[in-house]
Amino acid sequence: MQENFSQKNKSKELEVAIRAATEAGKILEKHFETDILREFKEDKTIVTLADKESEEVIKKIIFDNFPTHSILGEETGMTGAREEKSEYVWHVDPIDGTRNFANGIPIFAVSIALVHKNEVIVGVVYNPATSSLFYAEKNKGAYFNDQKISVSKDDKDHAIVTMSPSQRDIDRDLTQELLYSFSKNVVRSVRYLGCAALELAYVARGGLEANIQLGLNTYDFSAGTLLVQEAGGKVTTLDGQPWKFPDNHFIAGNGIFHDLLVEEVKRQIAKLGITR
Ligand code: IPD
Ligand code: CA
Ligand code: CA
Repeated sequence: MQENFSQKNKSKELEVAIRAATEAGKILEKHFETDILREFKEDKTIVTLADKESEEVIKKIIFDNFPTHSILGEETGMTGAREEKSEYVWHVDPIDGTRNFANGIPIFAVSIALVHKNEVIVGVVYNPATSSLFYAEKNKGAYFNDQKISVSKDDKDHAIVTMSPSQRDIDRDLTQELLYSFSKNVVRSVRYLGCAALELAYVARGGLEANIQLGLNTYDFSAGTLLVQEAGGKVTTLDGQPWKFPDNHFIAGNGIFHDLLVEEVKRQIAKLGITR
């Protein structure tokens, strides 16, 4: 029987993160599948009115409850705790997967994480298009719509692995190589979904066996890394060492064929002559 995560076990921080994500989700629902205006940012990614409204509502809810904390939001940068940076920093992506969102593809999410002294302690990922709410607190397990979740037990022959690269050429080149080599030599199937936060949440829920993150920002992946860890998954650097926040190159998976993924990533990095 699945264990419920009763309300009394949730910290105030988690409650607030869930409220912020679901309120922001209402804004996204309102704009989804409309002719929302898209603007191109300098890095050629897009931003919409929904990204801005979503971040505003999330920040208001967090600051109303935690006025001494800081918030790093994708659209407005670092705000709060002006005198001295707070030990508590919220990492907020108001829409992860804006391109999908703006094109009417329901693979997008709000991602909110709370980091304390370089450790992710709360993570929430919410996709309003499918009413999917994922959340986790450090050492308290991971949950999907109030049901405890765990990573899948599938081996490489049944696995789906996804890639989440940044816009940088070096990360995209490696992605192309891995999409090809993974599907040819390592796993059953590969995907590129365009929503890093949700891909990690899917790994936590057992829908994907692994996700490779290459060069994204802390607000894209922090909530998701906690979900995977709390669901019993494994998160390592690209060369197989334990992952530490805020390293933005890592492999998150169910742990069953992790070494094979590490080996193949190392091989392709060497082949491309990538040095970091
Ligand atoms: C994007 C997503 C996507 C990744 C892109 C990111 P955004 O975030 O996380 O998975 O491949 O590089 O920019 O811009 O939609 O918040
Ligand atoms: Ca993002
Ligand atoms: Ca975003």
